Amino acid sequence: MTEAQLNVEVSKSKISRHIYGHFAEHLGRCIYEGLWVGEDSLIPNTDGIRNDVVDALKKLNIPVLRWPGGCFADEYHWKDGIGPKENRKRMVNTHWGGVVENNHFGTHEFFRLCELLECEPYICGNVGSGTVQEMSEWVEYMTFDGESPMAAWRQENGQEKPWTLKYFGVGNENWGCGGNMRPEYYADLYRRYQTYVRNYGDNRLYKIAGGANVDDYNWTEVVMREAGKMMDGLSLHSYTIPGSWEEKRRALGFDEAEWIETMQKSLHMDELITRHSEIMDKYDPEKRVGLIIDEWGTWFLSEPGTNPGFLYQQNTLRDALVAGIHLNIFHNHSDRVYMANIAQMVNVLQALILTEGDKLLLTPTYHVFEMYKVHQDNELLEVAFESPLYTYGGVTIPQLSISASRDNHGKVYVSICNLSHEADASLSFTINGLQAGSVSGQILTHTDLGAHNTFESPETVVPSAYEDAELADGVLSCALPPASVVVLTLE
Ligand code: AHR
Repeated sequence: MTEAQLNVEVSKSKISRHIYGHFAEHLGRCIYEGLWVGEDSLIPNTDGIRNDVVDALKKLNIPVLRWPGGCFADEYHWKDGIGPKENRKRMVNTHWGGVVENNHFGTHEFFRLCELLECEPYICGNVGSGTVQEMSEWVEYMTFDGESPMAAWRQENGQEKPWTLKYFGVGNENWGCGGNMRPEYYADLYRRYQTYVRNYGDNRLYKIAGGANVDDYNWTEVVMREAGKMMDGLSLHSYTIPGSWEEKRRALGFDEAEWIETMQKSLHMDELITRHSEIMDKYDPEKRVGLIIDEWGTWFLSEPGTNPGFLYQQNTLRDALVAGIHLNIFHNHSDRVYMANIAQMVNVLQALILTEGDKLLLTPTYHVFEMYKVHQDNELLEVAFESPLYTYGGVTIPQLSISASRDNHGKVYVSICNLSHEADASLSFTINGLQAGSVSGQILTHTDLGAHNTFESPETVVPSAYEDAELADGVLSCALPPASVVVLTLE
């Protein structure tokens, strides 16, 4: 039995809803097919955007969507994606599969998608192969309300008023696909490019600098030192990759050793945030600059028979645990982590939705996002506990991942992941500072670790009501089966 203290009177920081952000790139079937089918498609759509996908995503209260990449962003020239569709440039998507990019989904279509999803846009600009002028004119095109060449062009293309745009990324992975730069060089370029990324009228940009790859702490050190004062956010990318970058593993058909390795690698996010934050604290002790984890999630081999450049993978109960662990870690670091964007929204990597023609399925990851959404914008609460250990095949990690929050009506939410593939977990929380009268909850689990949803059987892994929690004398007791994610509500 794990004894824990849930201290409802100790609120630590606000869990920004932007931690529940998403990412959609011109990669494989994410934008094309997954989100965009075009106005003439037989698949029901609104201005070319799939209705079924939008309806499913809206249930998650999506706060923000990052676009157009990723590596694609540093090869994207926004002027190719505006104006009459028949005149838009057909080009090669060199980074992702060498397929034709017809530019039918561009700036106007992206803002329409955000409008339908009722989320904020986050645009990533091109530093790697674009000019300062190009970036500066994009911002003018999107946000300037007055007389100017870019504003006039936007109006000609059917958008009279400027859009509201807050989040703007100055490049992506500039240590790699975004230009193979050294941090010193990128820091200087960041300073230069961001100078011309203007605030027009009332539109105030939140400028996000391209951050480190995984544990490249030197990148964070140099970029914070040289440019920290000129940014609002600094990004960090880290994927959960069982095996190695060179020898990835399959999303399905894994064994227990791969299970625990995946859990261990997910937990690594905690150390990454801690260490990058320590460096940020040196230059920004007030924590003004947000840590923006704008790409995270599992990265497996592509499904057999699919284009390897499309990064299409299935999504199992294991991905649900990865999602739950990451979201708990982001909550517990919400004093510095302001935004996170799972990669990616549809049909790519750790997707929430998979589509095939006019069919759609919701993945286990989707269900975790739906269960956890109650934490958005809440006060993070203190949970003191010592996790039992989970050992398998020479690997030892904590068995439990937990976070808790309180909303502004006083309801308290506790999310718990049992990482063990074989052991139950029993917990007892002494609740300090709340006279809870009732507990209810939801659980996502399965007896098969590789359980997943298919187009033929889309409801194999779905949440159900959780009945194994009880409250007595200010103590909450609960028991979790192996490989499970639970979210409890106390009121
Ligand atoms: O999400 C897929 C790719 O992973 C992105 O394009 C890139 O930024 C990262 O390396």
